[in-house]
Amino acid sequence: MPPDARNLTATAHALSASDRQSHYGHAGGVLWLTGLSASGKSSLAMALEQALMERGYSCYVLDGDNVRGGLNANLGFSPEDRSENIRRVSEVAALFADAGLICITAFISPYRADRARARLRCKQAFHEIYLAADLAACEARDPKGLYKKARAGELREFTGVSAPYESPERADCVIDTSAETLAASVEKLIGYVVANFPLGGK
Ligand code: ADX
Repeated sequence: MPPDARNLTATAHALSASDRQSHYGHAGGVLWLTGLSASGKSSLAMALEQALMERGYSCYVLDGDNVRGGLNANLGFSPEDRSENIRRVSEVAALFADAGLICITAFISPYRADRARARLRCKQAFHEIYLAADLAACEARDPKGLYKKARAGELREFTGVSAPYESPERADCVIDTSAETLAASVEKLIGYVVANFPLGGK
């Protein structure tokens, strides 16, 4: 809390969540994708965004590599910086959900405590989606060559190699991206969204 927070006065919006829901045709929410590097978060998030838009949903992806190029360009990969990365993204995702959109986030978000804090911030709008590809599968893919660099000691604090990944214990949805195709994973998540964010539903 900043020292002068008591001098802030929040302004109420003239629009309610229900007004926004009527406008978009569905409730706002956060689909929080978590998983190792190369587990397929970005690919799945981008394909899901497109598929949902085609079905009439309004959504937007916040992606780790993208957000780290701008808003979070001052952050590295220490535990503290990752926490701050996830804290800021939680704030932005909560604002997107509040605005009435479905925000799909694609961050490793390796720490349970940080994801729990994100859930607290986004409240009932938060849905944790675990991409359960294991380390061996992700390392075998290694599309950016980062596991290779990490094993060679050229990249420090790399998740799964020299930094921890704390897998979710009670994810709202688990997708094994090492065992199924991207199209199958997208279909599964569309089903999840349709069930949890009914179009035209209140
Ligand atoms: S998080 O741990 O803070 O949630 P985030 O998802 O934003 O990570 O960023 C991960 C991306 O940063 C990876 O996809 C990879 O391209 C890149 N990266 C660079 N260095 C590391 C590292 N040490 N550990 C993990 N990812 C890294």
